[in-house]
Amino acid sequence: MQVLLEKMSVPSFSAEQALNNIVKCWVVVALIGQWLFAAYILSVYAFPTLLGNTALTLSLSPGQGAKSESATDTLIFFAHILPAAIMAMSGLLQLIPNIRRNYPKFHKYNGRMFFIFGLSGAFTGLYLTWGAGFRFSDLGSLGVTLNGLLIPIAIYFAWKTIINKKLKSHQRFAIHSFILVNGVWSFRLYLMAWFVLNQGANGNSRNIDGPADIALSFASYLLPMLIAEIIFWAKRSESNKVKWSAASFAAIGTIITTIGVFAAGTMMWFPRVMKAFEGLF
Ligand code: HEM
Repeated sequence: MQVLLEKMSVPSFSAEQALNNIVKCWVVVALIGQWLFAAYILSVYAFPTLLGNTALTLSLSPGQGAKSESATDTLIFFAHILPAAIMAMSGLLQLIPNIRRNYPKFHKYNGRMFFIFGLSGAFTGLYLTWGAGFRFSDLGSLGVTLNGLLIPIAIYFAWKTIINKKLKSHQRFAIHSFILVNGVWSFRLYLMAWFVLNQGANGNSRNIDGPADIALSFASYLLPMLIAEIIFWAKRSESNKVKWSAASFAAIGTIITTIGVFAAGTMMWFPRVMKAFEGLF
């Protein structure tokens, strides 16, 4: 009996493998969500502008930026959003180890581009919010404002550590830079996931300054940053308990991202992409 049981070896997962697999699942789901976001930006803002159909952008853009009467603010608005499509298409590729190993030059130049666009996104975003006044409310803009202030700090350290060849620290700050630059993307995922889970608004307001809106605007980058830190801690730790706990946190993060990608994709981005294509062709 003992021999039979030994032969029927049940496939076992180590905590380390479980953690790695969950992170891989998150990358796949996030990649789908990032490309949907890129498709949205390209079809609502880039293609109509290139084809001279600005009326289409005006009809599909949810915010105030595209409707501005100031030429300077319109220019800054487009300088803010168009690089976002490029970052959404290629930013996540920086986190894939195989690409880093096999295409080091791509990693280097793609990383530089991500940092430059990330910095310009943060500065133009802060200007659009507080200079041009494209905000629905002061209170509701605090989360994204802190997000915009943290982006240059994380990018500065990611840059400094790679110049000083401190690879481990670079990796850590680069991941935080990635999370922060994508805070506005996560906010859309979290908000839409919140609507789906609550079957509608719950603590939300039209001006995006309800208690749930404010909590989600901070959680959109603070929660993934916390999960990333827990994963780094688990990778350094020898303890299986710590690794399993990190795997559980990573799984919760992956579930939230999956619901968010599904919700934002089906409720926010895909319908607008379809309308843009109907209007263009
Ligand atoms: C660097 C990362 C960022 C990216 C990738 C990004 C991306 C975008 C995108 C795609 C839009 C168009 C919105 C839509 O059509 O749904 C947008 C609009 C906007 N973003 Fe950002 N953003 C970033 C950072 C920020 C920050 C840090 C702030 C504020 C501090 C900000 C403020 C704004 C404002 C005010 C608008 C215009 C909203 C409107 O039209 O009413 N962004 N951003």
